[in-house]
Amino acid sequence: MRILVVGGGGREHALVWKLAQSPRVQKLFAAPGNAGIAELATCVDIAAEDTEGLLALVRQEKIDLTVVGPEAPLVGGLVDAFQKARCAGLLGSGRIFGPTRRAAAIEGSKVFAKELMQKYGIPTARAAVFDNPAAARSYIKELGAPCVVKADGLAAGKGVIVADDMAAALDAVEIIMVRRAFGAAGQRVLIEERLEGEEASVLAFSDGERVLPFLPAQDHKRIFDGDRGPNTGGMGAYAPAPACTPEVLREVEERILLPTVRALKAEGAPYVGVLYAGLMLTADGPKVLEFNARFGDPETQPLMCLMAGDLLELIEAALDGELERVRPVWHPGAAVCVVMAAEGYPGPYRKGDPIVGLADVPPDVVVFHAGTARRDGELVTAGGRVLGVTARGADLAEAVARAYDAAGRIHFAGVHYRHDIGRKGLTRLAAAQEGEAC
Ligand code: AMP
Ligand code: GLY
Repeated sequence: MRILVVGGGGREHALVWKLAQSPRVQKLFAAPGNAGIAELATCVDIAAEDTEGLLALVRQEKIDLTVVGPEAPLVGGLVDAFQKARCAGLLGSGRIFGPTRRAAAIEGSKVFAKELMQKYGIPTARAAVFDNPAAARSYIKELGAPCVVKADGLAAGKGVIVADDMAAALDAVEIIMVRRAFGAAGQRVLIEERLEGEEASVLAFSDGERVLPFLPAQDHKRIFDGDRGPNTGGMGAYAPAPACTPEVLREVEERILLPTVRALKAEGAPYVGVLYAGLMLTADGPKVLEFNARFGDPETQPLMCLMAGDLLELIEAALDGELERVRPVWHPGAAVCVVMAAEGYPGPYRKGDPIVGLADVPPDVVVFHAGTARRDGELVTAGGRVLGVTARGADLAEAVARAYDAAGRIHFAGVHYRHDIGRKGLTRLAAAQEGEAC
């Protein structure tokens, strides 16, 4: 099979890396890809949002399957455009994996997602929707703080402000709705109760009716150790996350993922693709913070390292509406991804610094590229998140130690990474062991 992966970050490198292991994959393409992906696939300089360019590539290269990484093309209707072209006989038998525009609204509009959850009784934070800043302010004054103010639309993961006090919440309305810091995404806001607990990410394949969850993972969204500083795209992830026990995972499947997929079908927008539930594990059970309409980044990096079976088979079963015929198989142990970021990230960051030390990384540690490029043959930084150093271990402690040992061998000017990826999981495992010993 000839496969195209759309996107050019660490998640897409992990997908390409995993697909390259499938005995049925003959040739891989990526658009636009990055310097790491270029070692496994033919990278074509077409942006993920360039629907016409992607359609032309698929026709020209006779691509059998397109896998979409980022949210923007999904929310913008890339899958719909491919399906239309296929019906018109323009793509041969070429298929695309990802939700349609209407189904991807679960990520594209936080208001749509919240109203769906409210209508179908899916556990989530209580929230109200406003399209007028004055009404939003008076609601905040009534509700009091802490609360969370969220821009409705896509804002590259930055449109959520967790406000500790009333002044910060009122300020958030000003930033999102009045100053329009996130553009049209701030036309409407959600004002939400703040939930307490530990966060987890549960991704699942969906064929429109059934779901097949991955191992639970945990992201680290803040830039600094101890979950301090501004939010980022994700500074590291690990799986399985012990906070999401098998019982909790079952609850997530039965009370969140399945009802959501059924709800979308009932609303006339069946969901085929990977559904990502960002969860708060509260004392009252798991509740949804957000849905994403795609593989998570960086959760996909450790998850692909842990997946033992063929990713292609799972994707095809979802596309065929036959998820019941497959089952993901996982390596034992755990995997950890430490993201190495450029100085300044998540604000304006340095670019063009040479990256050294990759040859010193042990061969069984995978360094997924995110923001990298080649300049006169030399590997240089080209994005905020530069690399995702990903290691598997017999347990979480070993995976953490191996990932950090490898990260310590890599260097570029201004490099920054967190030193506590996986720590919450380690603390929880240690406490459980102590409990058993007592
Ligand atoms: P979101 O993009 O909705 O997942 O929000 C980004 C981050 O904001 C989440 O990962 C949480 O850390 C935080 N957050 C969002 N909603 C809430 C909430 N209702 N309560 C507490 N924290 C939240
Ligand atoms: N890890 C967060 C995301 O993929 O949006």
